[in-house]
Amino acid sequence: MQLRKAGASYKGLCPFHGEKTPSFTVTPSRETWKCFGCGRGGDLFNFVMERDSIDFPEALRRLAGRAGVEISERNSREDARRKRLRDALDSAIAFYHRILTESHHGQPALDYLRGRGFTDATIGAHLLGYAVDSWDSLSKALVEKRDFKDDELEAAGLVSRRQGRRGVYDRFRGRIIFPIRDASGNATGLGGRIVGSEQKDANGRDRGPKYLNSPATPLFDKSRTLYLIDRAKGAIRKEGIAVLVEGNTDALMAHQQGFENVVGTLGTALTPAQIELVTRYAPRIALAYDVDAAGQGAATFGATELSALVGEIERSAHKGRLTDVGVIRLPDKRDPDEVMRDDPELWRKATNEPQPIVEYLINHFAKRHDPRTLSGRDKLVAAVMPTIRRVTNPTQRDGYLQLLARRSGVEERVLLEELRRPEQAAKIVGRPAEAHVGSKINLEAVLASPDALDPQAVASLLKRSEFSLLRLLLMRPYARDAVDAPTDIEFASTPAREIWRRLEDVPAIGFDRAAFAESLDPILAGIVRTMYADPEPLPEDEVALRQALDQSLLTLRRNRLDEEIGAKEFDIREAEADGDKPTAEALVREVRDLKARRLDLDRQRESTTVLSQRRQRATAASAAASGGNG
Ligand code: UTP
Ligand code: MN
Repeated sequence: MQLRKAGASYKGLCPFHGEKTPSFTVTPSRETWKCFGCGRGGDLFNFVMERDSIDFPEALRRLAGRAGVEISERNSREDARRKRLRDALDSAIAFYHRILTESHHGQPALDYLRGRGFTDATIGAHLLGYAVDSWDSLSKALVEKRDFKDDELEAAGLVSRRQGRRGVYDRFRGRIIFPIRDASGNATGLGGRIVGSEQKDANGRDRGPKYLNSPATPLFDKSRTLYLIDRAKGAIRKEGIAVLVEGNTDALMAHQQGFENVVGTLGTALTPAQIELVTRYAPRIALAYDVDAAGQGAATFGATELSALVGEIERSAHKGRLTDVGVIRLPDKRDPDEVMRDDPELWRKATNEPQPIVEYLINHFAKRHDPRTLSGRDKLVAAVMPTIRRVTNPTQRDGYLQLLARRSGVEERVLLEELRRPEQAAKIVGRPAEAHVGSKINLEAVLASPDALDPQAVASLLKRSEFSLLRLLLMRPYARDAVDAPTDIEFASTPAREIWRRLEDVPAIGFDRAAFAESLDPILAGIVRTMYADPEPLPEDEVALRQALDQSLLTLRRNRLDEEIGAKEFDIREAEADGDKPTAEALVREVRDLKARRLDLDRQRESTTVLSQRRQRATAASAAASGGNG
């Protein structure tokens, strides 16, 4: 780049957006850069990351190489280990690929893939594979012929250890293998899909989950992974938008059909780390999920998740970076891969017009609750309002209110009043978009007819921070000593509060997870089991655990404060309307104190976030710094 001196800084044309007058500024004294045109900025690391579309470790590695930074002995040992795991993974990928394409064992899997429309070119380019239904074919090949050690294969996530016996067994058996890579194209893990759609095999045995992914390993963290990001990043940057699909097959078919800005989220939950990853390349995302509006099934992405996503984005540290979230609607109940295969034009059209997420939700609820009836109108407004409350940009919020007014026939003035009303406090269990609808789901109702609601649905009544806090305390019982224990009123939702009360009564030492679940009412037991089964990786060590606990506790407390402030502000307006000045003034003082406490909490929360990010960065850095000998 050409930079010209301008006072204490340098200026030039921004490499990240088209411009004719320089607004890209480098300030040597602070070692920072900032473009006042597109808003990007940061330090030298993220400059190189953005410019070369690489991740932080890679940027650090390149810069370390240029700066001649010494690599410590310990780091290079760690790096050698990672390299070894990567080699094991690459060997396994090659092994599985050969079986798929060259062995008769792979024939049924190959037929299946071809039957779904995948070409041999795709299978070859992506090194798809097949793991035969055997306990040791991979481990034998890699240990005997390639000299890998059992523990290396285990650390790479390829094998599991036998319980109580020596030796290991293959993790992937009887499955089609999808290699999963990071943004630089290095293999990090595998996804394994059963062949066909039968839940049972020829011998009547259950075949397990449809997809089995690598477990968390030093290389693989599902929550930070987007399938095909290495091949999609260029197109995402060029088009300014990333299309997110759930399924591996959907992403793969997209690329085969030339829709290259598509990545797969490996399931339904979209994590902040995935948002961070994808917004390195473009500020806009569109979700082509199988959005099952009712959101009933476990594997569906429902209105609740969408609404939560609005909150996530608003809160997101990458706000400003992520500017747009749209939902792509596909006609009827076809999977994206089928639409792309059979009617690419239709796919192109659908992806050209993603619907803004809040608009999508309003329309969605307007279809479910008939605004021509009084109760339908009521339910519609109640269902949408929590989402609109999450939108912080006033212009946007106003636009959504107008849309809701049009769809519901409720006057905007009334909606505005509704919007200002504090979100109903603790007694309502807060499933964001739906708990407020009509008949409120509360514990009494649930206990009265436990069969009527499935535990997954009830678990989603818990606030996210409640869910993760309780889950951490259940999975790591000893951690209860480490936290500044919550009092039960700090849990906003009734089921969370109930579980916490019961948990407090059980000693942490010798805590028996299964027995605890069994001691609970069926519906609470169901929630607790949902927590046990939650796939989100647990913190890896004490420090991370501590930080995760602090995070959720602080969030919990902050939510509670928010509610209090909202309620008090409502009372202030009431008092003012009544002309009751002394009460109003007293309330104003109380609100001021509450806000000061909230600010304090936010500072704490920020510092725990910063701490944990710094830690992550340090881990990444030490892993990466060692790679610099190349
Ligand atoms: P889907 O069930 O929608 O799979 O799950 P899919 O990719 O469309 O599969 P096909 O079309 O039947 O082959 C979406 C994604 O969720 C993850 C996988 O990454 C899958 O691609 N998943 C699904 C799991 O990790 N485990 C499962 O048991 C199911
Ligand atoms: Mn599918």
